[in-house]
Amino acid sequence: MTQFNDTELTAAVIRSFDETPNPRVKFLLQELVKSLHDYVRKTDLTFEEWDYAIDFLTRTGHKCTDIRQEFILLSDVLGVSMLVDAVNHRDRDGATETTVLGPFYVGEHRETPHGTDISASLPGERMFVKSRVTDLKGKPLANVPVDVWHADDDGYYDSQKPSYATEGPSSRARFITDADGRFHFRTILPCSYPIPTDGPVGQMITQTNRHPMRPAHVHFLVNAKGYEPLITHVFIEGDKYIDSDVVFGVKDELIAKVEKRTDAVMPDGKPSDGPWHLMTYEFHVKPGGGLAPAPLGTKVTEDA
Ligand code: BEZ
Ligand code: FE
Repeated sequence: MTQFNDTELTAAVIRSFDETPNPRVKFLLQELVKSLHDYVRKTDLTFEEWDYAIDFLTRTGHKCTDIRQEFILLSDVLGVSMLVDAVNHRDRDGATETTVLGPFYVGEHRETPHGTDISASLPGERMFVKSRVTDLKGKPLANVPVDVWHADDDGYYDSQKPSYATEGPSSRARFITDADGRFHFRTILPCSYPIPTDGPVGQMITQTNRHPMRPAHVHFLVNAKGYEPLITHVFIEGDKYIDSDVVFGVKDELIAKVEKRTDAVMPDGKPSDGPWHLMTYEFHVKPGGGLAPAPLGTKVTEDA
């Protein structure tokens, strides 16, 4: 047959993938064709709308660099990242809940001694973070790398600022848990911040009257050998945007009470130089495997 009506066309495109050697790739491509064709039929998509969509995706690609990932942002604001998270983490068995990686995991996480102030050069309210990594039975896990990253007091990640190239990372580090699974560090209290609005994804958010804000949080990637990599955040209780995160990433269990303290001494016995906040959070990881995400700009592309 050389000419197809629209349902025959869908069937023909699906059949065209029948000889794909990898069964999973074949399944994913055929289901994608089904869903895309259904969308076009359901919406009676016009040429102008399809042109707009192609142009939007082209602009999204052009906005990407080694340290900026506009496609991750698109997946995040459309709720796709959290849906992939949900279907892959249906049974937590008591493990800490997961959430989006986000576009600012750049992999520049230097191994850092416990207690270090990872935001020493930045203004902001001071915060002490006390944390621990255990298995599902509460057994402490030693020697586990934990990557930490968060935004500054103006709502920007280090990698978004021109100073990143010359001064290197800030509010970003890697800690290795001690024999009791513990690690601790100093930093600043993060604030809520907008996702980048200078690209096509942010423009879509503002043009559709959505707000671009994420509630205040610290990112953690806990990567214990023999356990599932844990990609998560700890959110700060009471944040104005906790119920309306632009990327739908909040889970109740990830909201922590951050206490205001005035003690002259911090939990590691060292003096504080003013009021500070205390964030305490324990992570529980699940036996398993899997690769932690590759830093931006280092992914190897494989053909089907
Ligand atoms: C972040 O938390 O870094 C983030 C996550 C999703 C979209 C934008 C930013
Ligand atoms: Fe973030």
